[in-house]
Amino acid sequence: MKSQFLFAALSLATTGSANTSDAGYEYFLAEAGPFAGPTAEGDAPFLAATNPAPFGSRDAEPSREEILSLQSRGNLSPYFPNPTGFGVEEYPLPPGANITEVHVLHRHGARFPPASDVVETLGATIQAAVENGTVFTGKLDFLNSWTYKLGAETLVALGRKELYESGTQHYYNYGHLFDPAAPKLVARTTTQDRMFESAENFLAGFFGLDWRKHAKLGAIIESAGYNNSLMSMYTCPNSQGSHSLGGFNALEAWKQVYLRGTTSRLRKLVEGYNWTIDDTYNAQSLCAYETVALGYSEFCELFTLADWEGFNYGFDLAVVAIFGFLSPTGRAQGIAWVEEFLARVQYRPFDKAGTNANMTLNADPSSFPVNQTLYFDFTHDGDILAVLTAFGLKQFAEVLPREGPPPRHRFFITSHLVPFAARLDIEIIQTPRPVSAKRNALGQGKDVYERTGCTTQYVHFLLNQRTIPLGHSFPECGNRDDGWCELDTFLRIQKTSLGQARFDYACNGNYSVLPYGAITNGSPVN
Ligand SMILES: *[C@@H]1O[C@H](CO)[C@@H](O)[C@H](O)[C@H]1NC(C)=O
Ligand SMILES: *[C@@H]1O[C@H](CO)[C@@H](O)[C@H](O)[C@H]1NC(C)=O
Ligand SMILES: *[C@@H]1O[C@H](CO)[C@@H](O)[C@H](O)[C@H]1NC(C)=O
Ligand SMILES: *[C@@H]1O[C@H](CO)[C@@H](O)[C@H](O)[C@H]1NC(C)=O
Ligand SMILES: *[C@@H]1O[C@H](CO)[C@@H](O)[C@H](O)[C@H]1NC(C)=O
Ligand SMILES: *[C@@H]1O[C@H](CO)[C@@H](O)[C@H](O)[C@H]1NC(C)=O
Ligand SMILES: *[C@@H]1O[C@H](CO)[C@@H](O)[C@H](O)[C@H]1NC(C)=O
Repeated sequence: MKSQFLFAALSLATTGSANTSDAGYEYFLAEAGPFAGPTAEGDAPFLAATNPAPFGSRDAEPSREEILSLQSRGNLSPYFPNPTGFGVEEYPLPPGANITEVHVLHRHGARFPPASDVVETLGATIQAAVENGTVFTGKLDFLNSWTYKLGAETLVALGRKELYESGTQHYYNYGHLFDPAAPKLVARTTTQDRMFESAENFLAGFFGLDWRKHAKLGAIIESAGYNNSLMSMYTCPNSQGSHSLGGFNALEAWKQVYLRGTTSRLRKLVEGYNWTIDDTYNAQSLCAYETVALGYSEFCELFTLADWEGFNYGFDLAVVAIFGFLSPTGRAQGIAWVEEFLARVQYRPFDKAGTNANMTLNADPSSFPVNQTLYFDFTHDGDILAVLTAFGLKQFAEVLPREGPPPRHRFFITSHLVPFAARLDIEIIQTPRPVSAKRNALGQGKDVYERTGCTTQYVHFLLNQRTIPLGHSFPECGNRDDGWCELDTFLRIQKTSLGQARFDYACNGNYSVLPYGAITNGSPVN
């Protein structure tokens, strides 16, 4: 079934256990367990024995090409700070200004493929072919003795490290905002195994291993039939069916283009087996998965940087049409978290019906406090993309050409937006007077404040450590060098977000499926 393959191939989501009873389930879970979803352990890595380039070699530094290949693996790229930014530079906080709140929305770390992913079937196919007399030669020679060693769904060791490191980095950046005298900080994740473990590792990095003395971790049920503002797929049926096929078809067509040459090159290395474009694509995915799970992959030797640029672009085509502005459910899938953010910033109870947030949890200040200075929420790649869409950040709404990457730089690059352990950090900044919009023209040490005006609050979006300039999507924010927006202005703009998402109709309505590129506002057009 196509849509099934879509989610498996892109590893965007997984099927939760069809558990219908939440009897005995505790929101502040002590450890992953109920509603953790399927998991499978893989073979333990043995890099000391399998790495053909042993440590200590003078060539151990990765080449620029190797770095770029790691950074071009779509949502399977290990975490790296966005190297190109989103169109503005970052500026230091001016003297006398304060960061008063930080809202973090964090993706889980590197993981195994989803359960019954298509890459697993390539393993079985190769083994059957070898038993049937197929001989692989040249760069494919390793396949004569290769076995499939990956587990499913859970974090790999690198994933734990990514979240721990992010926790320590957030501590260095924002540790001062934590008030040890205040009640325990409430952090939120979902019950899925890798989501729960990601949050635990982040909190250990932020607070230390005794983090439970300082924080409570709530786990929202991630399973069919439950509301969840950190995982929208289950409560948005239209996000999964034929309305996603435009993105899927665009990816399929693009594979036929960018992998043609590499596939005919690889076919010459196989006797007795019909090596297809899908096999080449799966081999690319296996390179990405084996790298994070085992530390090294012979599949990576098969591909050029151009192959990786093509791989990355395939993700862009697909996800922009599943979670972005090219999807009729893009805004709907992210609107619950946007409304939660708005409630927290305005210190008001969450009272917005018409999203898929769990109203029972959100009505209770012990599970959904709105008076913290730090917020740590853990989520999936697609939900981060949908949140950008629901905020209305149309700088990511470009209709990407199906024929191949546009010649100019694009800002919608999946590996720059949602690599493993991606993080959206939203800072609330208070300044004694308005800050000049033209900070670039001001020399070092110059007063950045305007001469008149009083205390002003700003909102500053950072995705993977780079500023998202809010003025690029909202002219009302002004063309500011620092990409900030006055908080009052931003809140006024956001008043229309809930309506534009059209949650119920977008997710449950019966409207026609449109081809790729016909939808550009993240909501249904008819
Ligand atoms: C704001 O920052 C200044 C130092 O830059 C500090 O003296 C002041 O106490 C801070 N105010 C608040 C409300 O945190
Ligand atoms: C095994 O080889 C035979 C003869 O070439 C072929 O018909 C069959 O499909 C092959 N089976 C597999 C699993 O590759
Ligand atoms: C937040 O409000 C609750 C009451 O709802 C109070 O008990 C708690 O101390 C407040 N927390 C902070 C950090 O002010
Ligand atoms: C909301 O959350 C509560 C507490 O976790 C849970 O018992 C309830 O089933 C959830 N409701 C929905 C609709 O998801
Ligand atoms: C090899 O597979 C491709 C794609 O599935 C198919 O179009 C082609 O006919 C196959 N060739 C042979 C010789 O089976
Ligand atoms: C769950 O979400 C639906 C919308 O998908 C909403 O109608 C319902 O009130 C929500 N239930 C709870 C308990 O939050
Ligand atoms: C959806 O709309 C189509 C076209 O108007 C109609 O044929 C179909 O029966 C509708 N499906 C449902 C479930 O209402």
